[in-house]
Amino acid sequence: MAQKVTIRDLAEAAGVSVTTVSQILNGKGDRFSNDTRDRVLKLQEKLGYVPDYNARNLIMGSTQTIGVLVPNLANPFFSMFIKGIQQVAQSHHFVPIIFDANQNQKLQSMYLEELIKRAANGLIIASATLDANDIDRILTRNGIPYLLFDQNDAQIGDRVWVDDYKGGQMAANYLLSQGHRRISLLVGQDITHNIQQRISGFRAGMAKYHLTLADEMVVQTSMTKLGGYQATATVLAKKPTAVFCINDEMAIGLYRGVQEQGIKIPDDLSIMGYDDIDLADFVTPKLTTIHQPAFEMGQVATELLIERLNNPRLTHQDKQLPLELITRDSVKLIQSGIH
Ligand code: RIB
Repeated sequence: MAQKVTIRDLAEAAGVSVTTVSQILNGKGDRFSNDTRDRVLKLQEKLGYVPDYNARNLIMGSTQTIGVLVPNLANPFFSMFIKGIQQVAQSHHFVPIIFDANQNQKLQSMYLEELIKRAANGLIIASATLDANDIDRILTRNGIPYLLFDQNDAQIGDRVWVDDYKGGQMAANYLLSQGHRRISLLVGQDITHNIQQRISGFRAGMAKYHLTLADEMVVQTSMTKLGGYQATATVLAKKPTAVFCINDEMAIGLYRGVQEQGIKIPDDLSIMGYDDIDLADFVTPKLTTIHQPAFEMGQVATELLIERLNNPRLTHQDKQLPLELITRDSVKLIQSGIH
């Protein structure tokens, strides 16, 4: 097997020093002539030289790496969030290392250890399984900057966030304005703080109409399409006119479950979601939901973290982004104007 091309090989071929090659490849080549820079870059491509990761780390004193820990990579909300991270990381010459370890403390600790071994510059954490003590023990003591997001809002460190309480109120107000009074709530099994805020906001929205959400109208399942599907019989047994699902994935799973029973959405049962993942616009009927700006949150999270890396003594950064009600076709108006 051919030997890996080294920086020395490239320097010799270009007739310059290793330091010159390193500075040109690391964007610090302004002091050299255009001819030298072009020659090194052309030869790098010809020889197929890729800078050695560890050597670069030693020279730059940085791995240019951001660790990203999310609850569930398979959920489109988190994949959009990650796309936003990727776009900003790339523009700042950072590489994101992404993993999910929801509710799996052992796996998460292993991942975090590996990130520290790789001298990751910072972390973006959305998974709730890392509490404030873990963060202090594993990150703060290792001097690793972090930014908390979404399910992990341990109220420490820099944050990008949306008002989940308001999002729950928006969902309740909309269903109630469409005349629904017997509403079921489909929520996850492990209720994280941000989801709890969403539920509390929903209850507050009902209270404004002098209604309370009875506990027996709340159904718990996993926050996935399968979870929504498996909850079908339990939800239907509540005989609601509308179901508010705490994320779009559950709503889409519930769609399949009720439609298999011959139930029509929204004529027989109205369904509403939360997140506004891309699928929401492609199911039939299109899903009414609350839009979370996942891509923008990923962009802002990365900008704030890189800002922190460049200026560790920066004062606390806290950026709120807006939610939006997206009315499509899955909620029926059953009675207008009643209060
Ligand atoms: O769909 C995943 C859900 O978990 C989203 O609502 C997001 O806010 C996260 O908490």
